[in-house]
Amino acid sequence: MPSFRSLSAAVLGLVAVSSPLVQAQTYTNCNPTEKTDCPNDAALNQASITTDFTSESNDWTATAGTINYGSNGAEFTIGKKGEAPTIKSNFYILFGSVEVEMKAAPGTGIISSVVMESDDLDEVDWEFLGGNNTVTETNYFGKGDTTTYDRAIYYPVSDPQDNWHTYTVDWTSDAIKWSIDGTVVRTLSYSDAKGGSRFPQTPMNVRIGNWAGGDPSNPEGTIEWAGGETDYSKAPFTMYVKSVKIQNYTPADAYKFTDTSGSWQSIQPLNGTAADTAKSTSNNNNGNSASSGGNSNSNSGSGSGNSTSTSTSPSSSTSSSSSSSSSSSSGGSNSTSTSGSGSGNGTSTSSNSSGTAMPTNAAAGTVVSQTLFSVVLAFAVFCALNL
Ligand SMILES: *[C@@H]1O[C@H](CO)[C@@H](O)[C@H](O)[C@H]1NC(C)=O
Ligand SMILES: *[C@@H]1O[C@H](CO)[C@@H](O)[C@H](O)[C@H]1NC(C)=O
Ligand SMILES: *[C@@H]1O[C@H](CO)[C@@H](O)[C@H](O)[C@H]1NC(C)=O
Ligand SMILES: *[C@@H]1O[C@H](CO)[C@@H](O)[C@H](O)[C@H]1NC(C)=O
Ligand SMILES: *[C@@H]1O[C@H](CO)[C@@H](O)[C@H](O)[C@H]1NC(C)=O
Ligand SMILES: *[C@@H]1O[C@H](CO)[C@@H](O)[C@H](O)[C@H]1NC(C)=O
Repeated sequence: MPSFRSLSAAVLGLVAVSSPLVQAQTYTNCNPTEKTDCPNDAALNQASITTDFTSESNDWTATAGTINYGSNGAEFTIGKKGEAPTIKSNFYILFGSVEVEMKAAPGTGIISSVVMESDDLDEVDWEFLGGNNTVTETNYFGKGDTTTYDRAIYYPVSDPQDNWHTYTVDWTSDAIKWSIDGTVVRTLSYSDAKGGSRFPQTPMNVRIGNWAGGDPSNPEGTIEWAGGETDYSKAPFTMYVKSVKIQNYTPADAYKFTDTSGSWQSIQPLNGTAADTAKSTSNNNNGNSASSGGNSNSNSGSGSGNSTSTSTSPSSSTSSSSSSSSSSSSGGSNSTSTSGSGSGNGTSTSSNSSGTAMPTNAAAGTVVSQTLFSVVLAFAVFCALNL
C-alpha cells in the first residue's frame, strides 16, 4: 500500500541532486519500451462504459485511501496530513474519450487530479489547484519526456470547486482534445508532440485522486506549484466525482505491446479489432467525438505486418478555431532542473526536467502566462501514490 512516507521519499529523491537529468514524473510497474515481458493490459471490451459514482463501482479500484460514495458521487477527502484518496480504472483503453463530471477540492496546495496513464508513461491530465478557483490545468507527457516547455496550459473555468463541470479528453491517433462542458479548449495534434514521438498513443487507464501538493514536507518547488502550503486545520478538503463516461475506440480483451517502439501501431488488441486510426479527422469540436461512424479506415495496427498507414492526416481543419496555443516559452526560470533517484523502486525512466510555460489561451482571449516550477514533481507525488 502506498504510504505518505514513500510518497515524500519519492519527491525528496527527485530534488535531491542537481543534474540535467531527472527521474520521470510517473511510475510504471513494467515499461514495455524497456522490457519485452510485461503483462498485457486488461482492456475495456465494449465501446463505452458509464460509472455512476453515487455508489461504489467494480470497474474501479481504490489505490490509496478511503473513498465514500454519496449523492454527490465519489468523495475524495483529505481530512488530515498523509491522506491522498485515489482510484484507478480496472481496464485500459486505446484511443477513446474520458468524460468526468466533478467538483474540485478547495484548500491551498490541494490538487484534484484526473490522469490517463500508460505503462510506458504516456499521460494526459487535468489538474485543479485548491487555492485557485478560476482555472484548470491541462497537461500531457509522451514516454515520460518532460523536455518541452509548452505542455501545461491553464484554462479558465467558472468556480470549479462549487459548480459541476464536465471535463472531457477525446483521444485519437490524430489529436487529443480537452473540453470543458462540451467546448474544446485545447487541441494537441499528433505532429505537435515532437513529430508524434511524444504523442500519447499507448493503452491508458484512468486515475482519479486528490492529494496535497502543498504538504509542508514537500519540496519548495512542489509547494509553490501547488499554490502554497496546505493548512490542514482547514480540512476536510473534498473532491467530488459524480460520474465518469469512458469510450474505448478499440474494444478488446487485452492489449499487447508487440515491440518496444511504444507506437500505437505496435499495440495488438487481443480478441478485438485492430487499433483504429483516428476517428478524428472529423472535426467535431465538441470533444464528444462520435466514436463510431467517421471514416473508419481501420488499418492494421495489430503488428501483423500490413501497416497501411492511412491516416497521416495532418488534422488540418481539425485544430481550427479552438486552441491555438502559441506557447511563449517560459518567462522565467529556464531550468528548475531537478534530479535524483526517485523512490528507489520502480522503473522510472530518466528524462529532462523543465519548468512549464503557460501559453496564451487564444480561445478565451486570456493570457495565463506564468512559469511554474516543475509540474513534473507534482506528478511524481501523485503517481507515487499508485505504487
Ligand atoms: C489562478 O491561476 C491563473 C493562471 O495561472 C492566474 O492567472 C490567477 O491569478 C490565479 N488566481 C489565483 C487566485 O491565484
Ligand atoms: C480471447 O478469447 C478466448 C475465447 O473466448 C479466450 O479463451 C481468451 O482468454 C481471450 N483472450 C484474452 C487475452 O482475454
Ligand atoms: C497484407 O495485405 C496483402 C494485400 O492486401 C494481403 O494479401 C496479405 O495477406 C496481407 N498480409 C497480412 C499479414 O495481413
Ligand atoms: C533560457 O532558454 C533560452 C531558450 O532556450 C535561452 O536563449 C536562454 O539563454 C536561456 N536562459 C538562461 C538563463 O539559461
Ligand atoms: C522495492 O522492491 C523490493 C523488491 O521488489 C521490495 O522488497 C521493497 O519493499 C520495495 N521498496 C519500496 C519502497 O517499495
Ligand atoms: C535531455 O536534453 C538533452 C539536451 O536538450 C538531450 O540531448 C537529451 O536527449 C534529453 N534527454 C532526454 C531523456 O530526453
